[in-house]
Amino acid sequence: MTDPFALFDEWLAEARLSEPNDPEAMAVATVGEDGQPSLRMVLLKGHGPEGFVFYTNQRSRKGAELAATPRAALLFHWKSLRRQVRIEGTVTAVAEAEADAYFASRSRDSQLGAWASDQSQPLESRALFEARYQEMRARFEGQDVPRPPHWSGYRVTPERIEFWIDRAHRLHERRLFLRDGPSGDGDGWRESLLYP
Ligand SMILES: Cc1cc2nc3c(=O)[nH]c(=O)nc-3n(C[C@H](O)[C@H](O)[C@H](O)COP(=O)(O)O)c2cc1C
Repeated sequence: MTDPFALFDEWLAEARLSEPNDPEAMAVATVGEDGQPSLRMVLLKGHGPEGFVFYTNQRSRKGAELAATPRAALLFHWKSLRRQVRIEGTVTAVAEAEADAYFASRSRDSQLGAWASDQSQPLESRALFEARYQEMRARFEGQDVPRPPHWSGYRVTPERIEFWIDRAHRLHERRLFLRDGPSGDGDGWRESLLYP
């Protein structure tokens, strides 16, 4: 059987060659306590059998929703390839050390931005945000910028991955991979097809 993670690697590698920008961009859907889904784009920053990782402010809307309901759906749509990948699964925060290492690899401006932004909270004016940014610049002058405690990564551990590819006459191809349940052989995946 095809390994869905190897297939994802292949498709992402092709997207890196053909997308005009941000081949790692993906939509992340979360759900509110009232059942209302919400959706936004983020950048994929790590992936493999253990999951798909993105970074954000944990006090954002998505952070609050994931704290209450730690499940998410991800969607990649590579227009240049006419392909989509749909992923669903459970969500956990990445380890502190992993988040520290990624934060340290970001540009200083992005690091200061993470401190300056109360992501998804109401903002009175653009000028206030810029003033907060300058404040952070002064605060951390001459030292490394530490990772804000509320800024970290989430790992979506997939239970379901679907690869969709455009075919002629709308006879598209859909390959579905489902992680074996407890009765299965552990880390295995089952592959099947879906009608388009
Ligand atoms: C292409 C693209 C990539 C983005 N990447 C991220 C990201 O990696 N992390 C992030 O927190 N927001 C990212 N954003 C901004 C989010 O879409 C969103 O505005 C923000 O995270 C607040 O979402 P929330 O209120 O649902 O939590 C990105 C936006 C775009 C258009």
